[in-house]
Amino acid sequence: MANNLLQGKRGIIFGALDEKSIAWKVALRAKEEGAAFTLTNAPVAMRLGQIKELAGICQAEVIAADATQETDLENLFRQSMEILGGGLDFVLHSIGMSPNVRKKRPYTDLNYQFYAQTVDVSAMSLHKTLQTAYKLNALNEWASVVGLTYIAAQRTFPDYNDMADAKAMLESIARTFGYYYGTHKKVRVNTISQSPTITTAGTGIKGFDAFFDYADKMSPLGNAPAEACADYCITLFSDLTRYVTMQNLFHDGGFSSMGMSPAFMELLQKNQEE
Ligand SMILES: NC(=O)c1ccc[n+]([C@@H]2O[C@H](COP(=O)([O-])OP(=O)(O)OC[C@H]3O[C@@H](n4cnc5c(N)ncnc54)[C@H](O)[C@@H]3O)[C@@H](O)[C@H]2O)c1
Repeated sequence: MANNLLQGKRGIIFGALDEKSIAWKVALRAKEEGAAFTLTNAPVAMRLGQIKELAGICQAEVIAADATQETDLENLFRQSMEILGGGLDFVLHSIGMSPNVRKKRPYTDLNYQFYAQTVDVSAMSLHKTLQTAYKLNALNEWASVVGLTYIAAQRTFPDYNDMADAKAMLESIARTFGYYYGTHKKVRVNTISQSPTITTAGTGIKGFDAFFDYADKMSPLGNAPAEACADYCITLFSDLTRYVTMQNLFHDGGFSSMGMSPAFMELLQKNQEE
């Protein structure tokens, strides 16, 4: 279903680890829609993941960058502009990691060094990416930057742990930088709040499988799959959404507007009867 929506556009895609990654699906769709882009991930993910395979499929160069390191980001933007032959039109920030979640520290007993890492990797990295692009004048007018987030930024989902705080900050950075970059150069910045999705980052959350089913039952359209999230990213990178900026956009099958669903009630009743 290619429509050349990104024909002639150049970009950077962060966060494709393996074929389950949301960024992986975005890269495949962006290629299909005619974009040229570089792929990037943290050096450790290069060794563990399959990004080189994706690079082959997309005919894209891979540039290692730890998104918490400004020098890495500067090198990434400079190299990307050189390889792609000019300023950039889109950036996907698809990055998340919490050492507290990984090490199963409950929210009431967080390790603060880990907490700082969670915020640095999962939120501040968006600011660092935007600030680097701003200083290097790396983004063209009407360029589009998209970050991925989760509804735990607005509502409490206890097992999402300190990632909830990081996502709240990520969404705030998108709004505030969206103001500055919008007035400066008509660059737009948005976050997409995605349904639970079966990926490495997603399944690291405690009780993910049960939670995935719960969200699916609560959403009138069911959980949004990663492929549909990729489609949505493409529309935001395209010229069809030029006046959308500073928004947190729910891509969740309707979950965020629900209170209770008969489908979920039915499940509860069945459990009670058993
Ligand atoms: N999977 C879900 O249920 C879900 C739901 C809503 C939002 N999201 C968000 O979507 C985004 C992508 O996650 P995913 O589900 O595709 O999982 P994923 O594990 O495939 O992707 C996370 C990526 O972050 C990268 N990363 C971690 N530390 C980094 C660093 N220092 N520098 C650069 N990259 C780094 C990882 O290498 C990995 O590629 C994340 O922001 C995640 O929070 C996921």
